[in-house]
Amino acid sequence: MKSRQSWAELYAFEVDRTADAPVFRQIYLQLRSAILSGTLRPATKLPSTRELAVQLGVSRSAVVAAFEQLLAEGYAAGRKGAGTFIASDLPEPFAAIHGRKPRPASVSRTAAFRELGDFVDVTAQSDERPFNLGRTLMDARTVELWRKLSARSLRSFGRHHLGYGDPRGMPELRKSVCEYLRAARAVRCEPERVVITAGTQQALDIIIRVMQGPDREVWIEDPGYSLTRLALTAAGVTVCPVPVDRHGVDVTEGIRRAPKARAVFITPSHQFPKGVALSMARRLELLAWARESGAWIVEDDYASEFRYGGRPLASLQGLDEAERVIYIGTLNKALFPGLRLGYAVVPPSLVQAFVTARYLMDRQPSSLCQAVLTAFMEEGHFAAHIRRMREMYRGQRAALVAALRRRLGDHLTVEPPDQGMHLVAYTRRGLSDVGIERAAREHGVVVRAMSRLYVEAPGQSALMLGFSGYPRQIIAPAIARLARAFVR
Ligand SMILES: Cc1ncc(COP(=O)(O)O)c(C=O)c1O
Repeated sequence: MKSRQSWAELYAFEVDRTADAPVFRQIYLQLRSAILSGTLRPATKLPSTRELAVQLGVSRSAVVAAFEQLLAEGYAAGRKGAGTFIASDLPEPFAAIHGRKPRPASVSRTAAFRELGDFVDVTAQSDERPFNLGRTLMDARTVELWRKLSARSLRSFGRHHLGYGDPRGMPELRKSVCEYLRAARAVRCEPERVVITAGTQQALDIIIRVMQGPDREVWIEDPGYSLTRLALTAAGVTVCPVPVDRHGVDVTEGIRRAPKARAVFITPSHQFPKGVALSMARRLELLAWARESGAWIVEDDYASEFRYGGRPLASLQGLDEAERVIYIGTLNKALFPGLRLGYAVVPPSLVQAFVTARYLMDRQPSSLCQAVLTAFMEEGHFAAHIRRMREMYRGQRAALVAALRRRLGDHLTVEPPDQGMHLVAYTRRGLSDVGIERAAREHGVVVRAMSRLYVEAPGQSALMLGFSGYPRQIIAPAIARLARAFVR
């Protein structure tokens, strides 16, 4: 067996000289109990007798006597020249204690937490099979650049990376994000208002904390992004689902249902999951209501980098004269989900509270990833990456639409989306999306039933298929497998 990391060197041994028990026995008993409880695992190397004696301020002979007893009883094994190790084949008492089933921990039984416990997506997100949502591709050029810039950042690893920094993130990165958002999304911003986050999810969490208060009712889109809804309900916020039609969220209906809502969580440029854009008339209606009522609008502008056609709509935040919009975006889609970086552009009156909430949560973003991303943006690679990936995803989108229409045109209605990383295929003739979702998994294909994302509005049956994560050549064969899920 390979020896384990020598965590035993860090074990908090103690010796009490005033105790009746001899020192050697105190050391022996401590080690034995650490072994029996599993705190020190089989095959762990023990510190040398000399080191341990110095650490404890005792004679070496006391430590030697303790080790000898452990060796004699089979708890430890010696290897010539290699030191003393905890035995890999432990005697009976160890197995008996270790094998005992732990008592189940008691967990909160509130409705929100019960729902979180049932939330299957926690593991489903990491499923790599086509056509799971939210996955991205990186071409060889970006991979190579990312490696090079990471190596360069590590070479210049210094003071800049080592200490505590600004909770909003590195100034150079905030400046680059600010320039990008002004140019690409017509966002009104200055670097002082940009906060680098770990992505949309952390931004949502910070916003929820900032909105602490007794009358916390907010609008959410129905259907909408479940991670927004769950983050809100888990924090005890009352959500008011507002229906979405082909012009986006129905603002008039929202005002009718919850006129005093504290905030609105929406995806105006590309509604998740339906992919529609919030019409200009509704944008203006929403902004006017927010200005009057003092509500906040949280604009989740996810995947806005990938626009393939149609008239591009600038951000809602760019239209906002009254500074009611909190704009949040993610780099986990533009680059890769494992990156865990994103940003929020916060209205001036909220910056202080936002930064404080972030500081109390995790202080600041990790310095090294920010340094790599800063170089990637400053040197123009980000813009080039977006251009290349947009073309790649456009090809994948076309391949998916063509394969679906060819193979499943009788069962599904498919329109290519103008933006984003997934498409919605509406089922025909009363076919249940949930049934197909289940059957597709048996054929190694992941499609998501859109009807699951409705809260109150009558659910439309449709399948959501991600196309960004899957090279063109695997799309048609995967659709052939999906077609088998439709055969009864
Ligand atoms: C509506 C929406 N917003 C944001 C995100 C990105 O989230 P994050 O930045 O936490 O990875 C996703 C990803 O699936 C999404 O669907």
